[in-house]
Amino acid sequence: MTPASAKIPTHVAIIMDGNGRWAKQRKLPRIEGHRRGVETVRSIIDAAREHGVKYLTLYAFSVENWKRPEDEVAGLMTLLDYFLKRETKTLVKNKVRLLTIGRTEGMPETVRTRLAEAKKATAHFTGHTLILALNYGARTEIIDAARAYAKAVASGKQNPDDDSWESFSRHLYTADIPDPDLVIRTSGETRISNFLLMQSAYAEFIFTPVLWPDFSKEEFAAALANYASRERRYGLTSEQVAPAK
Ligand code: FPP
Repeated sequence: MTPASAKIPTHVAIIMDGNGRWAKQRKLPRIEGHRRGVETVRSIIDAAREHGVKYLTLYAFSVENWKRPEDEVAGLMTLLDYFLKRETKTLVKNKVRLLTIGRTEGMPETVRTRLAEAKKATAHFTGHTLILALNYGARTEIIDAARAYAKAVASGKQNPDDDSWESFSRHLYTADIPDPDLVIRTSGETRISNFLLMQSAYAEFIFTPVLWPDFSKEEFAAALANYASRERRYGLTSEQVAPAK
């Protein structure tokens, strides 16, 4: 457990990568890696809550992931369905609110129904929020936000001369969610892969070689400790953000 004095990120976002390689190393089908990945999802939701992280975003399915082999996509949808069916009770028990980001209208109906049920059952919780990025892509998010912004201008709700990020960002999927403080990617890849591009403008990044199915509560605690040791400057100088005493 992180000491109470440590800087805890309000929002941690994770690119869960390496399920396929984990399975390949064991000569197992890729879906076995995803199945193990779901177990990691469960333990990291727990760990985030135990450490007092208020928002946890997990990149569960990207807009590009539809191009994977049909049986893998179907398997991932089944796993999601199974996860939501099994996990909703736990989210309620632990008072974790569920939100989603992405074009979730493109997800299968069974998944959408489960998501709606889980969101409804957890909507009143305010302490911890789990955000699943589903059929998510940062570029599609910008397109959706620009469309919504244009509509708001056309209907007179948005002043077109207002050039603030605050006004535009109200149309992102993440309108009511603070920007991520820490973005973690597992499996040794050092890419952002169309994930929260605008929101992670000032985030700290951690790339770990550990494959997602092996990413443990201890690895998560180590990432938080690494984050706590960093100085965030938001474009200012070190002296400005930490003036000499
Ligand atoms: C990347 O590993 C992982 C994904 C594309 C899917 C992540 C999904 C899960 C962990 C399970 C479902 C999620 C929830 C929230 C229940 P990869 O397959 O790209 O790995 P590789 O790069 O080693 O092939």
